Amino acid sequence: MLINKLNLDLKAAAEALGYPTEKITVTYSDRPDLCQYQCNAAFALAKELRNAPIKIAQALADEFAQRYQYATATVAAPGFLNFTVTDEEFSALLRELLNDPRCGVEKTKNPKKIVIDYGGPNIAKPLHVGHLRSAVIGEALKRLSVFLGHDVIGDVHLGDWGTQMGLVIAGLEERFDLSYYFGGSGAKPQITLGDLNEVYPMASARSKEDEVFRAKAQDITFRLQKHEEGYYTLWQDICAISIADIKKDYAALNVEFDLWNGESTCDQYVDPMIDSFVQRGFAYESDGALVMDVAEESDEKPMPPIILRKSNGAQIYASTDLATIKERMETIHPDEIWYVVDARQGLHFEQVFRCARKTELVDPNTVLIHVPFGTVNGTDGKPFKTREGGTMKLKDLIALISDAAGKQLSEGALMQDGDAPRKVGCAALKYGDLVCNRTKNYIFDIDKFVQFDGKTGSYLLYSLVRIRSLLAKAGAPDLAGG
Ligand code: ARG
Repeated sequence: MLINKLNLDLKAAAEALGYPTEKITVTYSDRPDLCQYQCNAAFALAKELRNAPIKIAQALADEFAQRYQYATATVAAPGFLNFTVTDEEFSALLRELLNDPRCGVEKTKNPKKIVIDYGGPNIAKPLHVGHLRSAVIGEALKRLSVFLGHDVIGDVHLGDWGTQMGLVIAGLEERFDLSYYFGGSGAKPQITLGDLNEVYPMASARSKEDEVFRAKAQDITFRLQKHEEGYYTLWQDICAISIADIKKDYAALNVEFDLWNGESTCDQYVDPMIDSFVQRGFAYESDGALVMDVAEESDEKPMPPIILRKSNGAQIYASTDLATIKERMETIHPDEIWYVVDARQGLHFEQVFRCARKTELVDPNTVLIHVPFGTVNGTDGKPFKTREGGTMKLKDLIALISDAAGKQLSEGALMQDGDAPRKVGCAALKYGDLVCNRTKNYIFDIDKFVQFDGKTGSYLLYSLVRIRSLLAKAGAPDLAGG
């Protein structure tokens, strides 16, 4: 803002002196102890103008001083131009910003339609610490893009169609009389969230040892994907139970999605899409599976073919992601799709994007981006776990940090409402996540995250409250409470 103004005005001064203006750029000062902004153009101009840098700087400073009063320009040897903006100018700018809901940020002149695919939780599995970053980063990107004026659609892209569904159903079959779903006489079983949470890890472990059970789960997955009525209705009920819980977790983080679509949403697109890949000579059989080459000559690392269909005919992760692209292109027509997903899925997205381009699922100018992020680690440098070494559920993580924030609030006698610990905890969690280099892993340190000083979410909220109180005292009551 001020820097732009200084830039324009200094260029005008240069022009008046007959100096070329392309090289004139004002930057933030390297020496904040001396000035706020600076310009080093005199050195670049010296040759061209056959004059000493210090003389050029002085001429610019004099011309600037004649024209403008909001900043003083001083010259420092051997030719630096230092700018100090007056307090009046700063106050005027702050007042202007205070009354501007956009805080001086312009909307983009080139609005895009962007789908942000983030969250990515799986049905029948509780959200865990691994789901934190996608939610936090994705939500931040969504809010920023909306603020900049883009048309943004956030899609949670539930994992609701893969092998884990067959595993859960196979596990449930052993605990419940499911005949209700298959035309039998049994009553509708009362399946709870607790049942789902218990069944999945059990079924998953069992499928690794018990071949019969594994085959059964695979068969169920296949039947479900063929929309066999009993399994499909049961699946819908499982999804409803699980989604209600997933929604609660995201609500606790103030994360909101526009679309609650899942891998299942693109179902009708999968087979025709794959058939067309085969017809057009892109896909071929390899060891019973259907694959497609996506390697390029310039590749420096190996790029394996993308697997589109397994030998048993079941759909897989890559094909649902590809069909989802097709479905989004047909129903939403986005200019860009951003996937906020763990960095460890980099190869998957590279393969999917290449395949989508090669087969023209997207327009040549459609932007597909994987926004990777690192893992949340414990102090031992390994993915953050519970004290007992188990997977840390997102609920428990939020409870932990809310408790820690609550303690800090009580110690500082700052507790204002019953939800304050969650609000402060959530701010601490989000800030702690976003302040780190996105693509690196970071160490989850609750005590550090909730400190009321330093670079923390708690401190940010604390500063906000302080500023509002100062403004209220200074007679800006409308801002104090909002
Ligand atoms: N459900 C997936 C997982 O748990 C993440 C989904 C990410 N999004 C996507 N479009 N593939 O690994």
